Amino acid sequence: MFIALCSAKGAPGVTTSGLALALSWPQPVVLAELDPAGGDVLAGYGRGEVSAVGLADLELAARRGGMARQLDAQLLLLDAEGQARLLPGLADPASARHVDWDRLAAVLASIEDGAVDVLADCGRLRAEHFPAAVLHRAAAVVVVTGSTLRAVRAAAHAIAELREGDGRPGTLATLVVGPGEPYGEREISEALGVPVIGSLPRDGKAAAVLSDGAPAGRLFAQSVLLRAARTVASRFVESAAAHESRLTPPPTPLSASATAVGGSGVR
Ligand SMILES: Nc1ncnc2c1ncn2[C@@H]1O[C@H](COP(=O)(O)OP(=O)(O)OP(=O)(O)O)[C@@H](O)[C@H]1O
Ligand SMILES: [Mg+2]
Repeated sequence: MFIALCSAKGAPGVTTSGLALALSWPQPVVLAELDPAGGDVLAGYGRGEVSAVGLADLELAARRGGMARQLDAQLLLLDAEGQARLLPGLADPASARHVDWDRLAAVLASIEDGAVDVLADCGRLRAEHFPAAVLHRAAAVVVVTGSTLRAVRAAAHAIAELREGDGRPGTLATLVVGPGEPYGEREISEALGVPVIGSLPRDGKAAAVLSDGAPAGRLFAQSVLLRAARTVASRFVESAAAHESRLTPPPTPLSASATAVGGSGVR
C-alpha cells in the first residue's frame, strides 16, 4: 500500500508519527521523506547523520532516466533487519522546486507491490512545492491532526480542500496525535467526515527519540507511543488487505516478490 501522510498546518507530528509507524510496520516498508521543507529524520532520529543518498540524488538520477533502477541505492536501513528503510528527504529545501513529484510518485508507487509498503511524509498541505502529485497516486491520504478545536478545524479545511482539489486523492483518513485534548476519535471522525485510522498518544519522551535523537533507553520499544504505533500500523495493513481482497484475486506466493524487495543492493 502507498500511503501519503500530510498535515493541515502547524506541526502535529507527521514526521514523528511516520517514523513511529515505519519502525512498527508488520512487513517491509519504505518511509519516503517528501516534505518540500526538507527531510528531518537524519538530523533528528539519525542524530545529525549525513548521507549522500536520498531524494535529491534520486531526482538527479531521474533526469538521467534511471530513476527506478536507482531507488534501492537511495535507501538507508532504519532497523537492523532491513524491514524498514528510509528515503532521506531534501537536505536543502531550496531544491524542492526542481523535483518532479509526478515522476517520483510513479516510482514510489511501483515499489509497493503487496510485499512492501510505502509511507510518504508529504509535510504541510499548503507548503510551497507541496507534492500534490503524490497524493493522487496514493491509495490512502492520511491527514495527521491534533485533537484540539483549532487543530480539528484546520484538518477539516484541509480535507475539504483535498476533496475539492483537481485530481482525485486516494481514500481519505485521519490519524490523531494526542487524542482527548479534548476531542476523541469518534468526534473527530464525525467532524471531518472521514475515518480515523487510529491515534498515537502524547509521549514526549519517546517522541523526542524519534524527532530529535534523544537516547532511546531500554523501555523505548515498550513506550506507549511505540505500542500504539504497532496497533495503528497493523490496522493499516489489515485494512489494505481487506480492501484488496475485494478487488483483486488472491496474491501470488510471497517468496518471489519478497526476495526482490529485500534485495542486497540496499544499505
Ligand atoms: N506523539 C507525540 N507525543 C509527544 N510529542 C510529539 C508526538 N508526536 C510529535 N511530537 C513532537 O511534536 C514536535 C513536532 O513533531 P514533528 O516534527 O513530527 O511534526 P511535523 O508535523 O512533521 O512538523 P513539520 O510540518 O514542521 O515537519 C516534535 O517536537 C515532536 O517530538
Ligand atoms: Mg515533518
